Amino acid sequence: MKKDTFTLTDNRNGKSYEYPILDGTRGPSVVDIRTFYKDTGMFTYDPGYTSTAACESKITFIDGEKSELKYRGNDIADLAGKHSYLDVCYMLMRGRLPSKEESKGFDLEIRHRSFVHEGLIRLFDAFPDHAHPMATLGSAVMALATFYKEHLNLEDENQFKEMRRRIIAKMPTIAAMAYRNSIGVPLIYPDVDRYFTENFLYMLRAYPGGKMKNLGNGLNEEIKQVEVDALDAIFTLHADHEQNASTTTVRNVASTEAHPYVAIASGIAALWGSAHGGANEKVMDQLRLIGDIKNVDTYIAKAKDKNDPFRLMGFGHRVYKNRDPRAESLKKLQDKLREELNLDSKLLDIAAAVEKAALSDDYFKSRGLYPNIDFYSGVILTALRIPVEMFTPIFVIGRTVGWITQWSELKQDPTTKIARPRQLYTGK
Ligand code: ACO
Repeated sequence: MKKDTFTLTDNRNGKSYEYPILDGTRGPSVVDIRTFYKDTGMFTYDPGYTSTAACESKITFIDGEKSELKYRGNDIADLAGKHSYLDVCYMLMRGRLPSKEESKGFDLEIRHRSFVHEGLIRLFDAFPDHAHPMATLGSAVMALATFYKEHLNLEDENQFKEMRRRIIAKMPTIAAMAYRNSIGVPLIYPDVDRYFTENFLYMLRAYPGGKMKNLGNGLNEEIKQVEVDALDAIFTLHADHEQNASTTTVRNVASTEAHPYVAIASGIAALWGSAHGGANEKVMDQLRLIGDIKNVDTYIAKAKDKNDPFRLMGFGHRVYKNRDPRAESLKKLQDKLREELNLDSKLLDIAAAVEKAALSDDYFKSRGLYPNIDFYSGVILTALRIPVEMFTPIFVIGRTVGWITQWSELKQDPTTKIARPRQLYTGK
């Protein structure tokens, strides 16, 4: 059968070039231009990769027009809050949800790997008080490469599995330690009797050696099941998101044969920016800055003013030009938790007023700017008594499975080449 093709004509000389069209299982087809430079002596130009598919993948699918997000073919709404985050991790890595037995086994494997080397713990001493936990977290994950130096045998599936389990298990421990170090309180070791998400809340809140509850300083607060469930769903909603900026960074670094944890550390760096995962922290800052419903219109006007750098944080997305399905799930979770967790009603009211004003404004409507995942996560994380500087580290914990799964896929893809784009040179 004849394959579909795409013909490009150079109108300067009338020469035509034919390229194969490749169809995925879903989503837009792609034009395979791998020989374009060889054929024409020209490059394609696509800053920000708005029209570029940089790899083939079987992990996550997004339809930004239809507000669809699927992990391995499973709708996000059927996963978040319905399966544990660790089961979702298993599914992302293995392609299917685990059986009860497999789920239990995987949970145990993660618990046993949640400790970090004592040498890594000493690294925290070097960071100053009030260091942002994202900076400490990124540095400590980079340092993990000094403890796991083995050269990965690409033929050995067990080595892949170990590399993945280890980083998923250690990320909450390192994130909690980064936070505790920043506020100058003793670091807490993981408690293997607790499930992944509960253990993270425990490591954030525990008061060393003490069993006293509710000291009023955020430490040793009891952990409610509803909090664990909410955070678990939040981790699932962040678990993977196809070729976003941080995942692309992980893939680019991985393509150079760098150590996998170095690639993950670069993903953390890319995620921190306020245009990406750092937006969740900025949303809270912005809601507090707005301060009152009566100020909402002023800030909407600022966001629309092209001479003002102010952007409405938590709005807009490169792929979703319609509702972000993760934001929809979080909005439902927020409504559910409103009573149970005593959500800050003033912040909620301001957030609702911002959303209403933006969604009825032509500027936002014509550009397809809807609330994204970061718009809702902050209010819920605040209700879970998570400090604002831990919002982006929480994104990191959830996304680690996505990064390491994409890293594995790249390593096992025979078409992988070092990421090396070219440029349109306009200098001297
Ligand atoms: N507030 C005001 N205007 C906006 C916003 C916003 N939040 N987002 C986009 N726009 C405008 C742009 O000014 C531009 O207008 P123009 O066509 O008149 O020039 C148009 O909408 C398109 O915006 P781009 O920046 O070209 O879109 P892009 O796809 O490159 O950027 C991004 C997407 C970075 C997410 C952007 O919408 C943004 O900065 N949002 C705020 C930060 C944020 O919430 N980031 C989290 C994203 S979700 C995540 O990473 C987990």
